[in-house]
Formats: sequence, structure tokens, C-alpha cells
Amino acid sequence: MAPLDHYECRHGMGYTTICSRSAQIAAEITYLVPVDEHLELWICSLCNESQRRRGLDLFTYAEFSLWGVIKDLLNQQASKYVGIVRCEDGVIFHETRTDSGPPKGDETFVLHRAYFGCGRPVASFDVQRAEFIGPWRDESNPMAVQRGNCSGQQYYGYDPIASLHLALDLAPAQEETIVFVLGVDDEGAEWRHKLAHYTDPDKARAALSAVKTYWEKHLAPLQIRTPDVGMNGIVNAWNPYQTVNTFLTPRGYRDTSQDVLGIMHMLPSGVRARLRILLAHEFQSGTTTHDYATEEEFALTAGATRVFGDGEVGFVSPTGTTLEEQLGTPSSDAPLWVVPAVCRYLKETGDYAFLQEQVPFLDGGQSNVLDHMLRIVDHVWTKRGLHGLPLICMMDWNDSLNLPPGSVSVWDGMLLVWAARELAELLRRPEVGGDASVITARADEMSDIINHVAWDGRWYIRAFFADGEPIGASACTENQVDHMPQSWAVMTGIAPRERAIMAMDAVKEHLATPYGIALLHPPYQTYQPRYGAISVIPAGLKENGGIFNHPVNWAIIAECLLGRGDQAWEYYQAMLPSTKNEIADLHQMEPYIFSQFVAGPAHPLHGRAGRAWMTGTAAWALVAASQYILGIRPDYDGLRIDPCLPSNWTGFKATRIFGGTTYQIEVEKPTGISRGVREITVDSRQIAGNVVPQVPAGSTASVRVKMG
Ligand code: GLC
Repeated sequence: MAPLDHYECRHGMGYTTICSRSAQIAAEITYLVPVDEHLELWICSLCNESQRRRGLDLFTYAEFSLWGVIKDLLNQQASKYVGIVRCEDGVIFHETRTDSGPPKGDETFVLHRAYFGCGRPVASFDVQRAEFIGPWRDESNPMAVQRGNCSGQQYYGYDPIASLHLALDLAPAQEETIVFVLGVDDEGAEWRHKLAHYTDPDKARAALSAVKTYWEKHLAPLQIRTPDVGMNGIVNAWNPYQTVNTFLTPRGYRDTSQDVLGIMHMLPSGVRARLRILLAHEFQSGTTTHDYATEEEFALTAGATRVFGDGEVGFVSPTGTTLEEQLGTPSSDAPLWVVPAVCRYLKETGDYAFLQEQVPFLDGGQSNVLDHMLRIVDHVWTKRGLHGLPLICMMDWNDSLNLPPGSVSVWDGMLLVWAARELAELLRRPEVGGDASVITARADEMSDIINHVAWDGRWYIRAFFADGEPIGASACTENQVDHMPQSWAVMTGIAPRERAIMAMDAVKEHLATPYGIALLHPPYQTYQPRYGAISVIPAGLKENGGIFNHPVNWAIIAECLLGRGDQAWEYYQAMLPSTKNEIADLHQMEPYIFSQFVAGPAHPLHGRAGRAWMTGTAAWALVAASQYILGIRPDYDGLRIDPCLPSNWTGFKATRIFGGTTYQIEVEKPTGISRGVREITVDSRQIAGNVVPQVPAGSTASVRVKMG
């Protein structure tokens, strides 16, 4: 194929556009999924920029895979021969009956149907990959394209595809737009209407505008203008975009409970509904499942048995007999995260009525949301071992630190303190009027335990085996310093100031790199069953001393709480995707998306990113940047303004929609300082303190903040 004269690929919010030019033909294609539709549009325009008539053959290619990707990978001998495909009047239809995914009603093999069309006469078509591509070829040189037409052969099974061939004739300067629709229509009831509608280019373009408006609306609640262009682009668009995507394609109970922290201001009703679903996966005992079913009707049926089971694959157990369905999550931290998630939802929305709503337990019966939260904290409190620290069970946040039975997690104790303090604060609210004394006493006791047994002299210890041998302590050979308990000791207020500074200095000294903070140092070198899966991961990758981005945000928050704005900024910059352009060949990740991890200093490719998109980094990065660096933090009494900025900044501007009111915030500061609010005026009237009280919904308030 001749090289193109021009090529461009642009990703926007909810769409991608690819443009190219060759032999005086300009081509552009935009891919999008219209809001609330089960279909994808390909808006394709071709323009003849030459002085002569041009005949063009346009071919499409899409592979169908409706049987479920897992089945396709594991049992292809079955899935490869069940797809039915045919072309009728220029529309390609694909059907598969599959037993993967939740059953609908009594059907075991559920019918899935897809269609592909463009509402125009087609010159030829192909429905099988082998016929379109041809033997010993691939997508770069399909036989049909080289020959100038498709085979038109129709047969079932094998590898169903959709290729339509259109013969176009363009006069000089003529432009043609063709819209292809790739849709899912299990009932077979809507394809005709959808094709008629969306193949009209004006309607397709209207759908593209609606997608853009959808995102503008969701991004509007937080828009910032700071001196840093990279931060502005990420916080105003890509970071929330990634967070919504992690929320929509959830990975598990603990991950979703954290994802919601980043999107409450954008999708409060979506968060509310999801919190109900999460709470409905709680047992009466106060534990929860590890994964969960997002389908509300499954989750909210008391005693439901259809729960996503093991690991991230997620399958439905019709009898409710998986171990997880009987015993709950094998991880000690998973249930706790939902407690602060509910509290932060209330801080954002003031929706106290939520606390009184009845939600079923997974093993029968029901209770209100507040009681669900209390039971979770009770449950973790009763599951303690050595020193009174929480038992780690199969793991805590770190999936791969799988210690033998009886081992305890210091970090879990810190999570317990965070959840308990948030819950106590909620209980003390006049709108709730609960008794916070027991919860507060537990948080105090756990803090004391941690300070008593887990301070190693310069940093906090990570965990203990049942016999008292520590992990993440200077006495260890591997994993002497573990990042997690350092940042969390500060975030939760457990560490007294002097220890807080020492612990975060240890993070800087032993774990910080130009690309972020390694999770631990030194990494495990060989497989040792007593540490579990972490010692199987090669040194410097993922949890074994890789730069896990998710916890980097906790260090940013910790440094902000200590008032060290330059340090917080250094960590934020190290993590920010937009700062990776200079090392793009090494980093190898979209420059607008947070990755799960970056290879750590122990790895030869230190700086190479791994696993884009699906990571708790996204939600926490938005929280760290907006609520701690910029310091715009929802609180029960209003919007707290407590920035912790790089010392050389002179301020920033932000628009924040909170409680239905638009706050136009302007922060000014002298250089040389990072934190400290001196004066705030709201609509020219000075307020006491740094919490901007709620003003009536629907209005606009001008907030001027002077630091110094
Ligand atoms: C992955 C998991 C998350 C876990 C983390 C650390 O991101 O999705 O649940 O906490 O790894 O192991």
C-alpha cells in the first residue's frame, strides 16, 4: 500500500476521529457510541480533492464476538462454530446463543443478535473472515480489497465478520458521507428503525454533538485553570473521563468503593444507586462479597444467590454455593471501603435520607444504610489477632501479599481508623444524632496500638506474621520499607507530627523515583510461599516494588496534609501522564491516561507503564489533585478550601458546582508558601474560617481566597 500523504488520529470525549489523505482523496472516519444506545456509529466522509471524477471502492471490516471473550479464549473449539451470520439487502446479521453471562429468565443459552448496515446499496459483501482476508494474509492486505470486491459467500460458524463494499463515484470536489451502524439487538425489534435513523448523516452528527454535550455536562462540575497546562488538561477532561470508565466497567467491591470517590460530583445519582448495590452485597455479619453483580435486580433481592463469584472473571452461581457466596470476601479490607464512600457521598450531596433507606443483606433480612455501615466496622473490629491488629486473611489492599493464617495487617488497622473516624464524624452530625463514642474509642485504640507496636524507628511496619516477625521493617532482608503504612499514618492522623515527617521522608529517601513512588523496597527476589503471590512477581513490577500509581496519590494527599506542597507536586508530576511525552518510547502509554503501574527502579525498563485505564489510580488522582493540591473539598457544612500548592505558584482559578450552586473560585497566594488560607470572601463578604457555606441551589457564588 502506498504511504499516506497525511494521517491523524484524535481521541475526544466519547469518540475517535481518524483522518488521512492519499492520491488527492481525503478520508475521515469518526467512531462513537450515541448516548444510551446499544450501537456504534462510523461516520465516514470521503472527498475528491482532484480535478477529475474518481471511482472508489470502500470496504468495511468488523469481527463479531458475541459469545463472550472468556469463552472465546478458553473454549474456542466450541465458540468458533456457533455463530450464525448472513447478509440480506445490504444488512449483515449475526446471531449466537451463548451460555456465558447471567441467564435471562429460564433460558440457559441466551440469544444475542447484532447487525451492521449503512442504508445504501452495496456492491458486494463478506461475512467470513477467511473469505475477506484470504489465505496467508492479514488485515493489512485483505484479498477482497486487492481484488476489488468481496466474495459474497455465505456460511455459518467459523469467524463471522461484517464487510460491506460500496462502489462510489465522486465528481471533482464532491464529498460523500456514509454512516455505518454496528448495533446489538437481541430481540430483533429495533435494527430497522435504528438503521433508518442513524444512517442519515445529519442524525449521526447530532448524535456526536449529543455525546460531546453529555461529557461537557459531566465535566462542568469541576473545571480548573492553574499555571500547569498538563494538570488542567488531565483534571478538566481525561482524569474524570477515565474515572467514569472505571466506574462503568467495575472490577470488584473494593475497587468500586474507591472509584465512586472520584465521580460523586459528576454522577451523584449513579453513585447512590451503586452504593445501594454494594451494600446489598453485605452479609448480616458485616462482611461483603469480593466481587459483585451490578445488575440491580440481582443485588437487591434479599437472599439473592446470583452473585459474581471468583476473581475478576465474574460468573453467576445459580445455586449460591460458591465459597464467596457462603463466607464473604477473602480480603480483609474490601468491606471497609464502602463506609467512607457513603460518608463522602453525603458530604457531596447532603442526602441524609439515604442513611435511613432499607437495603437487604445478601443472606436474608434487611436493615438501613447506617446500620450496614456500623456492621462493617464491627465485623472488622472482631477479626483481630496479634497486638489487636486486624487479621490480614488472604490479603488486604495488596492482592498479592498473601500471608499465612494468623498474620495481621498494620495498614488494615489504618483503613479501619479512617473508616471509623469518617463514620464517627457522620454520627455526630445533628442530622444523624447517633452515638459516636464507641466508634471513636475504637479508632483511638487502634491508633494507639499502631503507634505502640508498628513504629520501626524511622517508618511504620507493614504487617506481622503470627509469631511477631515483621514485614516492611528495617530488620527484614526484602521489603524493608513499604509505602502504604507511611502515607496512611499521615492521612488518618495516626502519626504524631514528628513521626509523620520521618515516615514521609523515608518514602522520599527509599522509594521515590522520577516516575513515582515504588510500592516497597527492596523487592522480593525469589518465590517464598510465606509471602504469597507478591514473591512470584519479578522484582520491580506491579506490587513487588513496581511504582503502583494508585497509592502514589495517598503520598500526595499525605504531603498536602503536612503542608509540603512542593513535595506533593513533585509526586503528582511524576505520575501525571502528560509529563511522559519526553519518554514516550520508554513509557508506552497513552499520554492522557493513568496506568496501574510503572516499572520500578529494580526493573531494567524502569519507567515503562503497565495496564492502562482500569485502575483505582484514576479516582484517587482526581481526589488528590482537586481536593488536596487545589484543596477544594466537600464537607458537611459546605465547601472547604484548603489548597497545598507548589510554592512558586501565585494562585489558580476553579469552577466547582456543589449542591447545585456554581462556585467561581479564585485563589491568590504569594510565592514562597504552599498552604494556609488567610481570608475568604464570598460575594465580597468575608467569612470566618475556610468552609464556604452552602448558598441556595441554582445560584452562583464568587469565592475569593487569599493565602499567606
Ligand atoms: C489491582 C486490584 C485492586 C488491588 C490492587 C493492588 O489494582 O484491582 O483491587 O487493590 O491491584 O493489589
